[in-house]
Amino acid sequence: MGKPKVVLGVSGGIAAYKSCELLRLLTESGHDVRVVPTAASLNFVGEATWAALSGNPASTEVWETVHEVPHVRIGQSADLVVVAPATADMLAKAAHGLADDLLTNTLLTARCPVVFAPAMHTEMWEHPATQENVATLRRRGALVIEPAVGRLTGKDTGKGRLPDPAEIYEVCRRVLARGVDEPDLVGRHVVISAGGTREPLDPVRFLGNRSSGKQGYALARTAVARGARVTLVAANTALADPAGADVVRVGTAVQLREAVLEAAADADVVVMAAAVADFRPAEYAGGKIKKKDGQDPAPVALVRNPDVLAEISADRARDGQVVVGFAAETDDVLANGRAKLLRKGCDLLVVNEVGEARTFGSEENEAVILASEGLEIQVPYGPKEALAEAIWDQVAVRLQPRRA
Ligand code: CTP
Repeated sequence: MGKPKVVLGVSGGIAAYKSCELLRLLTESGHDVRVVPTAASLNFVGEATWAALSGNPASTEVWETVHEVPHVRIGQSADLVVVAPATADMLAKAAHGLADDLLTNTLLTARCPVVFAPAMHTEMWEHPATQENVATLRRRGALVIEPAVGRLTGKDTGKGRLPDPAEIYEVCRRVLARGVDEPDLVGRHVVISAGGTREPLDPVRFLGNRSSGKQGYALARTAVARGARVTLVAANTALADPAGADVVRVGTAVQLREAVLEAAADADVVVMAAAVADFRPAEYAGGKIKKKDGQDPAPVALVRNPDVLAEISADRARDGQVVVGFAAETDDVLANGRAKLLRKGCDLLVVNEVGEARTFGSEENEAVILASEGLEIQVPYGPKEALAEAIWDQVAVRLQPRRA
């Protein structure tokens, strides 16, 4: 089998320079990339750069090498088309089927998955014309990832930034791995909590845990690649924001509860992958707690934190909302898992066995997915992404038909 063929479409936005990095990531990981820039984008990054980095000619117009019929051939033979950055103009053209240059022709002839990574000013992104074009493209099966929030061209900040190229690459990789299947979480809002809460004792100390957030982030990445709108409630993580996810940062269990409940109000799915502290110090010392010569330290009194998973499971914000919990167990993994599933009242419980050297901070995981109706799915040791996909497969079959 030859290398997977990727078409990288580049439209005319300042973020075009970031696509050089995306191109590198794609070529270095064994993809044959053909860059198709629009004429406007060449004002930002020239043809020579694309040709040199991809090792392939980079043409803009359908009138070059006409005997090879490039306007049909490039799209037909692609395994994936990714347009990054996708400007408002490009989204409009794609939504309406215009074909006035090589990239728009390619989009009409492609029969493979198509990913758009939009980048533009917030006003342009939020304009109803753009939003309707995005909705049209999504309805037709294209994956349009949400822009990131942050610094835009000039001094302004807001939604409209091109996500980190490494994260766009992750989306491409996931979509290529899934092949031509239509994204099955399109039109769904999923809320994922990730990381570990920290419960402060004083301004410099906290009670925490060893969760890295990697499993929750893998869930967010895979959900984006399957078309979902993703809210990621991240507790004390040090990982790059997944492309296309709205990231809400929290510190404590109480903050996490608030953020999850707010996002869950219109969510189809809530996945509680975060390690939430069951207890917090009863008192917070406003100043640093000092040791005193000759005195034993004062004991730390603890109080219970709310159980977010149990609360969400018992009081679902929407009919048919699917709730997924996680359990980390050291002994009697399955029996404890079944009991916890009942106690928490969720639909699925992902149980993994943990220990000093297992799971925390690692790229791999092994788990059993327990379902409330009795099903038990063993997911073998492997990348956290594979477990994430297995979880979404189970969620997808439990979702109610989409509302019109
Ligand atoms: N969880 C939660 N709120 C808490 C504690 C946990 O929402 N205050 C969620 C976690 O996100 C996870 C699940 O509950 O999805 C399992 O948490 P775990 O700490 O393993 O379960 P516990 O109820 O604490 O049970 P035990 O103490 O017996 O391990």
